[in-house]
Amino acid sequence: MISRIEHGLGWWRHAVFYQIYPLSFADSNGDGFGDLAGIISKLDYLSDTLGVNALWLSPFYKSPMRDWGYDISGHTEVDPLFGDLETAELLIEEAHRRGMRVIVDYVMNHTSEEHPWFVESRSSRDSPKRDWYVWRDPKPDGSPPNNWVSVFSGPAWTLDEATGQYYRHTYLSRQPDLNWRNEETVDAAHDVARFWLDRGVDGFRLDAAHQMMKDPLERDNPPAPHDYDRPWKDMGEYDDFVHLYDLGHPDIHELHRQIRAVVDEYEQNPFTVGEIHIFDLPEWASYYGENLDQLHMPFNFHLMACDWDAGSLRVLIEAVLWNVPAGGWTNWFLGNHDEKRLATRLGAENARLAALLLLTLRGTPFIYYGDELGMQDVEIPAGQSRDPWGANVSFLGRDGARTPMQWTSGVNAGFTDGTPWLPLAPDYEQRNVEAESTDEASILNLYRRLIRLRSGSSALRIGSFLSHPSSNEDVLVYRKEADDDTKTIALNLSDAWCDVKIRAGSVVLSSLDHKRSGRVNGSLSLAPREGVIVDHP
Ligand code: GLC
Repeated sequence: MISRIEHGLGWWRHAVFYQIYPLSFADSNGDGFGDLAGIISKLDYLSDTLGVNALWLSPFYKSPMRDWGYDISGHTEVDPLFGDLETAELLIEEAHRRGMRVIVDYVMNHTSEEHPWFVESRSSRDSPKRDWYVWRDPKPDGSPPNNWVSVFSGPAWTLDEATGQYYRHTYLSRQPDLNWRNEETVDAAHDVARFWLDRGVDGFRLDAAHQMMKDPLERDNPPAPHDYDRPWKDMGEYDDFVHLYDLGHPDIHELHRQIRAVVDEYEQNPFTVGEIHIFDLPEWASYYGENLDQLHMPFNFHLMACDWDAGSLRVLIEAVLWNVPAGGWTNWFLGNHDEKRLATRLGAENARLAALLLLTLRGTPFIYYGDELGMQDVEIPAGQSRDPWGANVSFLGRDGARTPMQWTSGVNAGFTDGTPWLPLAPDYEQRNVEAESTDEASILNLYRRLIRLRSGSSALRIGSFLSHPSSNEDVLVYRKEADDDTKTIALNLSDAWCDVKIRAGSVVLSSLDHKRSGRVNGSLSLAPREGVIVDHP
């Protein structure tokens, strides 16, 4: 089956990924939650209409859903909410049949507290699995072993009254951390990877991939100084500390080498991408491994954190590419299930420009479901929120970016016959696959054109990247080249018309005007927030 997929080794360099959050994609049984059969029913949309060739599925494993599947209680079981193992296998097969690869989440920093491993580990201090998790005695005054806080706020330690010890959790207290310094745990975790690789998955998105190894001495994190320049968005109480000791201990690299060795046993050339929230570029790049023997790529969160202006983008893109080790390959994305949607963060007028940027940079693009429709974050009415992070720190709630996919103008946007688990966006009657498919000017059709153009152009797919000194500081200009294919991309980041100097060629795509074409003779006029791709003969 895999042989039908165009590219063998390094297929992921040519891929356009699409992230599906299964709970919100398509509901086949009317319970209001998306499921695997629902995804199968939409594979034609993904492969034919949209044209992507790789999928990342967020978790569909057995889970009490305290963190909506990122709290796994059975790694090799499918939660009944989503279907069963047979349906998961069918989904992988059906995606392959359409030439799409499938990667799945590998959540191994922690499990659910309901996982049989943890139930056993918690049962007594003498349990054979006690050391599979991280258990520590209280300090003499009964307080937690150190000052680490959980990402979702509150201490990273919870006391188990029955056995009198604290267990560590990077996230919710219901998500105890696995102990990756125990060999049995490591072997069991590797077997989970093998289980899914044996079922044909094409790799993994490694959840919390930099947090799996912490300081063995478990030193207190230093409090953040008042003027501390936090690396990214406001994380609430988590930002009260500089996270020196509770992530990224150098042992992490051996752990990733070992996981890589497991996936490399498989013939489908599996791919791994890790959730690495590290903003120091050399440290971030260290996750490729000196011999490119760790992750195929760390996720590149830098673009998400970048100011949206031509100068900042240029510096950022060049800096990321400069730091990718020789022979390595990066990725670009502007949305996922943990972040506010791109059309909400950057504004609707930038969403089309963002699409053009994502699909023309050097690196593998990841599209978050619904971004191809221009979906916005939805205001969740009181009483309907679902996200445990949002319950702890309201401004960090993620429900707004996880609302149901908008398929049609009909009831519940065609997502479900039941009551959707999260409310639909108020604009779904206009903004949906059905309506946008027939509107040549829609953002969906822009994505479709971009994906097709990229798949037919080696310059756009794998070309070298050369950023031009632009003749206008509001316009980001870069050239992509491969073989005899050369394209220039120009993005006007301002609200005014801009002229830029561009080598002679012809316009092949505009982010705003689907009819735009024609010769370029040395200079190009760009409408506010317009991006253009120029082909050079
Ligand atoms: C990762 C996931 C996020 C989840 C967390 C805990 O950050 O992306 O959705 O809540 O891990 O598993």
